[in-house]
Parts: sequence; C-alpha cells; structure tokens
Amino acid sequence: MGTAIKFRNAIALASGKGGVGKTNISVNLAIALRKLNKRVTLFDADMALANAHIVMGVQPTMTLVDVLDHEKSLMDVSTIGPLGVRLISGGSGLVELMNVPSEQRSRLIHSFAELEATCDYIIVDTAAGIEDNVLEFVRACNRIMIIVVGEPAAFIDAYACIKILHQTYGIHNFDVIVNRSRDDTHGIDVFKRFKGIVERFLDANLYHVASIPEDNQLHVSVARCNPITIMNPDAPSARAIITLAASLVKTDDSQTNQTAPYSSHKSETSEPDKSGDRLI
Ligand SMILES: Nc1ncnc2c1ncn2[C@@H]1O[C@H](COP(=O)(O)OP(=O)(O)OP(=O)(O)O)[C@@H](O)[C@H]1O
Ligand SMILES: [Mg+2]
Repeated sequence: MGTAIKFRNAIALASGKGGVGKTNISVNLAIALRKLNKRVTLFDADMALANAHIVMGVQPTMTLVDVLDHEKSLMDVSTIGPLGVRLISGGSGLVELMNVPSEQRSRLIHSFAELEATCDYIIVDTAAGIEDNVLEFVRACNRIMIIVVGEPAAFIDAYACIKILHQTYGIHNFDVIVNRSRDDTHGIDVFKRFKGIVERFLDANLYHVASIPEDNQLHVSVARCNPITIMNPDAPSARAIITLAASLVKTDDSQTNQTAPYSSHKSETSEPDKSGDRLI
C-alpha cells in the first residue's frame, strides 16, 4: 500500500510465526469486549487463509472484494457473529486494497469512517509472516499486541516482526501476550526472556498484557466452531482473555473520561493523524 490505512481504536494481533493463537485470541477478545457492552468489529486481515469466521462459527457472504468491486459499504459486507460482534472478512480483497485506484479512495475513506463510528474497538487479526502486506495492517492500528509462545522459533519470528515495525515504521511500544503458558510464573518468565532479547537490540518498549494458559478446552472449542469465551467462559484460556478485555476497557474508559493523553504503552501510531487523510 503506497499510502497507509489508519484505523482508530484498533488493536492488531501479530506474531510473525504462524499457528501461535492470533485468530483464537482475536475472536475471543472481540467477544469478551462485547460482553462488556463494547461495540466490536473484527477485521480478518489474513488474505491467504482467512479463518476467523470458522472460529466464530459464521459464514460471511461478502468480503472486501464487494466493497471494491460492487460499491458496497463495509457495513454491508460485514457479518454479525456471536453476541453481535461484527466480522469483516478481508480475504483476497486485501490484495486489491493495496492498489486501489484514487477514484475509489474517497468511498473507502467514507466507508471506514462510517464503520469506525459504529464501534468502540476494531480488532485486526493478521496473517503469519512479516511481509509488507501483513505489517501494513499492523501499523494501521493504534495498539499492537504481539503473540509469543515459549519456543525459540516464535521468539525469532516475533522479534523480526517487532524489528521491522520499529525500524521501518518507527513504532516503539508493543503489548505482548504470552500464549500457551504452563502457569503464570512461566508466562512471566517467557515474557522476561523475550523482552530481554528485544530490548537488547532495539529501542522498543514491551508490556506484558496477558498470559494465556495452555488449555485443552480451546481445542474442543475450535473443533466445535464455538469460541471458548462462549462455549466455556470459565475455561482457563477464556478467563485470561476476559481479564485482558476488562483491563483494556478499564484503561481506555478512564483515559476517555480524563481526556488525558494515551498511556505510555499505547503505540505511537495512536497519535492523531495530522494529514487529515486517515485512510489509504
Ligand atoms: N492457549 C491455547 N491452548 C491450547 N491450544 C491452543 C492455545 N492457543 C492456540 N491453540 C491451538 O493452536 C491452534 C492455532 O491457533 P490459531 O489459529 O488461533 O493460530 P494463528 O496464530 O491464528 O494461526 P495462523 O498464523 O495460521 O493464522 C488452535 O486451533 C488451537 O488448537
Ligand atoms: Mg490466524
């Protein structure tokens, strides 16, 4: 994308490495925020293997392609999922979005603005990898959550992801979720090791926002296409995600009420866009 999309109130989940839990955490974080009465849109920004709808148990009939080709709005192409979470499946339309001709821009800008006005949070589930087309969506968000699991390959890929976001896009602040932790102590230990590596080489700040335990019930929920926060909100993984949602809401609501600047662990992409052209 030569010019950047900008989402407000948006949280990107990224990892570098595949299969570490981005989609399940995205879907369940969206549902957990919804349970707190927040209006939530989940944007599935995985072009090749969009599957948030499967985890959510819904079947979208339209995608971003219909916005670009058939002049639909993002609201038109969204699907309402569990508890009213709105899902937008980017799918292959994201490829076209990268090269959108200028005459389509104002319509898209309008459409994203309309969407943002209808929700408190946009959760962006991204694909594995560190290609431009993945990171363009990550940097479009004002908060970035990096998912790591306690294995070297995950550290290497997550580090590469942070390095590009930091060096290419000047982002300093990253939230970290440790997934598949054995217990809280293990989660903290994994975070500390990862933070140590990143902060040794990069001038980036990492904040541990959650540890999500290894949870057999999550496998069951995936097999049933029924998100764990709905299937069993008391399951260990669900509880951790619900706690994360509550802390996000608590922080964001208190900041909204205080009209104070964002806390230090909000990505600097949360700065208001001074160009006035927030999208594309
Ligand atoms: N906390 C957990 N406990 C147990 N299993 C988990 C946990 N988190 C993820 N998994 C397992 O990992 C699988 C992959 O998760 P998910 O699809 O959310 O990863 P992803 O990062 O989105 O993958 P991709 O990079 O392919 O998009 C899940 O189907 C589930 O079986
Ligand atoms: Mg995924």
